[in-house]
Amino acid sequence: MNKPWPYPLWLAHRGAGKLAPENTLAAFRMGAGFGFRAFECDVKLSRDGQAFLLHDDTLDRTTSGQGSPAEQDWAALSRLDAGSWHSPPFAAEPLPRFEQIAAFCQANGCALNIEIKPCPGEEARTGAAVAREAARLWAGAVPPLLSSFKPEALAAARDAEPALPRALLLDELWDGWPEAAQALGVVAVITNWRLMDAALIERLHAQGWRALVYTVNDAPVARRLIEDGIDGIITDAVDQLGPGR
Ligand code: G3P
Ligand code: MG
Repeated sequence: MNKPWPYPLWLAHRGAGKLAPENTLAAFRMGAGFGFRAFECDVKLSRDGQAFLLHDDTLDRTTSGQGSPAEQDWAALSRLDAGSWHSPPFAAEPLPRFEQIAAFCQANGCALNIEIKPCPGEEARTGAAVAREAARLWAGAVPPLLSSFKPEALAAARDAEPALPRALLLDELWDGWPEAAQALGVVAVITNWRLMDAALIERLHAQGWRALVYTVNDAPVARRLIEDGIDGIITDAVDQLGPGR
């Protein structure tokens, strides 16, 4: 595990998606305002191949739209309100294109962990497209870390842009995950924090992989993981945890 690691310890989850509408530019501004210099966000594709930020498989929870974004073109998605569901001050906040987030991060000296979050059935298409877009947008800068729960998406990202760093996301330690991580050529494994302990951190480090966790909103849990040697912590609690706190 001794390759340099260019990413900060603390990453704001979905931008800073509790105090502001998740996966919007407003959320990134909020996180940066609390001192965060690294972010996680969820990226998927519109029907016509535009990479943009959204967590869910459907538009219903976090936008004024409905249904699957994989069945709609960006021209329609770009007109949706992705802020009113959160609170009135964020009314009319739009869905951001991935490109806008790349520009924000680079203008503000922030690192990015891009979670490739394909709509069902779109794994390979999304992994390849997001990797290509990331390579184009970050030329010459600290590269974004591409992650996914979907090995198929990471494999497509690897095949499209082998030089971009990748991380396997795990919400459980499913059979064969170490072999999958090896085959995908990851630099890191990111688990639900409940799965991570000193022994797993040591095991990951022995493989040459960094160890990261999501989503830690509790100071004692964060302290324990830091003592155990964790490399990255994704948090929603940007006003309570993070750089300088
Ligand atoms: O990338 C880590 C974390 O974001 C994974 O869970 O559901 O919040 O995207 P989720
Ligand atoms: Mg995510």
